[in-house]
Amino acid sequence: MSVHSQQPQQKVTVRSLQAMKQAGEKIACLTAYDASFAHVLDNAGVDVVLVGDSLGMVVQGNDTTLPVNVSDMLYHSKAVSRGLSRSMLMVDMPYLSYTSAPQALENAGLLMKQAGAQMVKLEGGAEQVGIVSCLSQNGIPVCAHLGLQPQRIHKLGGYRVQGREQDAADAMLDEAQQLEQAGADMMLLECVPQTLADDITGALGIPVIGIGASARCDGQILVLYDILGISKGRIPKFSRNFIVETGSIEAAVKAYVDAVKTGRFPGGENVFS
Ligand code: KIV
Repeated sequence: MSVHSQQPQQKVTVRSLQAMKQAGEKIACLTAYDASFAHVLDNAGVDVVLVGDSLGMVVQGNDTTLPVNVSDMLYHSKAVSRGLSRSMLMVDMPYLSYTSAPQALENAGLLMKQAGAQMVKLEGGAEQVGIVSCLSQNGIPVCAHLGLQPQRIHKLGGYRVQGREQDAADAMLDEAQQLEQAGADMMLLECVPQTLADDITGALGIPVIGIGASARCDGQILVLYDILGISKGRIPKFSRNFIVETGSIEAAVKAYVDAVKTGRFPGGENVFS
């Protein structure tokens, strides 16, 4: 085949993510914070690249994600965007950047217009229904984030599994459905029991992405530096160091994508009961 007849790879869109859910094809997501890593992830077949506010911890060295602001997200998202051609660019709305619908619209608009975000992610449940609805009505794709919400760490009193009690599990399922009805295009579940993740994945029409959730979620996400074994402290239970088994950054990212796509990640040791 001549190079001229080769088709460029189709950009990942909300429609293709939806089609992947329907076809049972797992969605591989990973964080990145700069153009060089973004390029590696794009080449390795990562479907969604998240500029996570985890950058406050893994790039800036803070203890929490709280100090991150919109200008930090713009700076890193612009860089990541330059490294991507196929992967979708999803960007976190940082702490206190979406306390009202007008504020959320303004900040999400900046991420879309200036940094090339194709989807924004925000933490919270039923209290975010109005915000999600406003963003969605203005053409901004939204990923809602339930379960462990690091922006509420001081309110939660620590990083721990959410939704273990039956009433909390019922409430989370209800909130997930409300957020979908409000217009969310994707749902991220962080640190929730496997059975609850399975119930939410089955109940929603939109793709559900897990981190410490379930292998039966429609996709998985991890923090890049955790899979490369360069995060400070112990690697979280829900993550896996892929560089020890591969030996290079490119091979580690490819191994992660392959493990997600074939259902080999997460394993039983990466999820919670
Ligand atoms: O900021 C982040 O890295 C996240 C994780 C859930 C992937 O939101």
